[in-house]
Amino acid sequence: MKLILSLLIMTIAFSCCKSFSLGNNRIDYSKFENQVNQQQCFTSSGSYPTGYSTSYVTLSFNGNYPTSNGVQQSSFLESGYLDIDFVGGQLFVDFLLDDGNTKTKGKFWGFSGNSTQYVSVNVNETDYCFEQPLITSVPNFNGLKYVSDFELGTVQCDMFEQNNLDGNFTNQILLVDKTDCSLISGSTININSPSGYTLSNFYYYTPSADQTFFQLPSICLNPPQPSRSKLNSLLAKLPKIIQNLPF
Ligand SMILES: *[C@@H]1O[C@H](CO)[C@@H](O)[C@H](O)[C@H]1NC(C)=O
Ligand SMILES: *[C@@H]1O[C@H](CO)[C@@H](O)[C@H](O)[C@H]1NC(C)=O
Ligand SMILES: *[C@@H]1O[C@H](CO)[C@@H](O)[C@H](O)[C@H]1NC(C)=O
Repeated sequence: MKLILSLLIMTIAFSCCKSFSLGNNRIDYSKFENQVNQQQCFTSSGSYPTGYSTSYVTLSFNGNYPTSNGVQQSSFLESGYLDIDFVGGQLFVDFLLDDGNTKTKGKFWGFSGNSTQYVSVNVNETDYCFEQPLITSVPNFNGLKYVSDFELGTVQCDMFEQNNLDGNFTNQILLVDKTDCSLISGSTININSPSGYTLSNFYYYTPSADQTFFQLPSICLNPPQPSRSKLNSLLAKLPKIIQNLPF
């Protein structure tokens, strides 16, 4: 009886959903300039986007991150929105960081023009903003090397590598959709000790920067400077990866 019932359900499922069957709507990659197993995207530096904006989720296990005293490692889940302008050297991140002990909401701005970064965090329902020397390198497509074709699910990708990042401590792999050269996934591996890895997925990718996010809010323009002891008690509530910024 059970078997008949499941056969019936399967028959209904297959007959109603034939139009969704996989395989029929695969993209015909032959119409692209380069055939499968040949690099399609970023064949010259002129074809790099001038910036991009995207939502993202990053999972890090001991992944490297830069501090003013060199790289350190941290494990965390981070999600948010990333906005990058390569031409103007501007970076904006709206993030939620959970390192297992603390969940922190914050915003980050990096400006290569004046080598300044701003980090705004919410502690105890209050927003704070700190001006610091820029230590985060603005992610870019420099030195991308095509490795091979790759499939993410069934999406045909160009796989690129970017080596010796973070001052020679991290190698990165980027997966880019062959149909429109959008960034869809990235992963890093520590080439120092301890070993560490990060994996990022990108959602709602747009191949241009949104300039509106590079305007600093008033709280960052005239940041009230908390006393050192107040600052220390604030920092104690934040994940290590934020504590290690140059406060
Ligand atoms: C750095 O540049 C940004 C963008 O132009 C600007 O908003 C910020 O006020 C500058 N900071 C300093 C310290 O010059
Ligand atoms: C990074 O490491 C590679 C390979 O070990 C080496 O050839 C290169 O000189 C290093 N670069 C820097 C900037 O230290
Ligand atoms: C956060 O709020 C708690 C409870 O109101 C208070 O005890 C603590 O001192 C506050 N911490 C900071 C850093 O303001």
